[in-house]
Amino acid sequence: MAVPIQTVAAADGMEDIGQRIGKGDPVVGKTLSASERCQECHGEDGNSTDNRIPKHAGQYANYLIKQLRDFQSGARQHEVMTVMAEDLTDANIADIAAYFASQPTMQGLPMRDFPIATKLFFEGDKGRAIAPCSSCHGDTGKGNRTGEVAYPVIGGQNKNYLRAQLVSWKLSERTNGPDGVMNKTAKLLSDDEIEALANYISGL
Ligand code: HEC
Ligand code: HEC
Repeated sequence: MAVPIQTVAAADGMEDIGQRIGKGDPVVGKTLSASERCQECHGEDGNSTDNRIPKHAGQYANYLIKQLRDFQSGARQHEVMTVMAEDLTDANIADIAAYFASQPTMQGLPMRDFPIATKLFFEGDKGRAIAPCSSCHGDTGKGNRTGEVAYPVIGGQNKNYLRAQLVSWKLSERTNGPDGVMNKTAKLLSDDEIEALANYISGL
């Protein structure tokens, strides 16, 4: 008997969700992210309404886990997050990451046209050796899970947070990415380009 198409689609969907949430328990993570106060800033469902605070809804669990470990080790520095991450066990981290990753993926409000940003996003700039953002973060900025590295979801992320991260990669205040890839990229961007990219990507 032929396998009904819907079953195949559902199975593919499950596999995608499994990869996204990792090995943690999202049910435990929901309770923990409330008791550990994560939801106060990042939103109950991971959609922070404070423009400076990142959304986590639908973010890849292994990206969230890496960031929390980086806050713990000091590889990524932030006054508040260093304290928030300090006492979490590996199991806590995996469960909380699984909960936020299991939420519907963050969405922005479509923005007006940003021609400079659109070009950089999809084509990069060969003259300056800027690779297209879409080559790693995906055509809709919803990240890309291939192998060990999870390229984070950036489409629909809060605008002020996006701008701040690009500036901090540019100034090498944030250096925790693999092979300094984001530092190399952001150093080549002007402030106007960063502003346009943050606007454009937040609307994806
Ligand atoms: C008082 C507000 C506050 C609380 C509470 C808080 N966070 Fe954060 N979190 C932030 C801010 C602000 C940032 C952005 C840091 C930066 O600018 O580098 C952040 C960043 C993060 C990031 C990095 C996200 C990314 O896209 O790179 C993760 C992961 C994270 N928080 C997880 C947590 C978890 C888990 C908890 C609970 C244990 C928590 N946060 C509690 C404010 C908060
Ligand atoms: C070669 C792959 C690659 C390219 C090209 C690339 N990125 Fe990234 N980007 C990454 C990786 C990997 C990370 C996660 C780094 C880490 O582990 O902290 C990242 C992180 C980010 C973050 C931080 C997300 C967060 O939640 O904190 C932003 C913002 C970002 N990239 C924007 C861009 C923009 C804009 C472009 C194009 C101008 C771009 N990236 C091009 C690989 C890439």
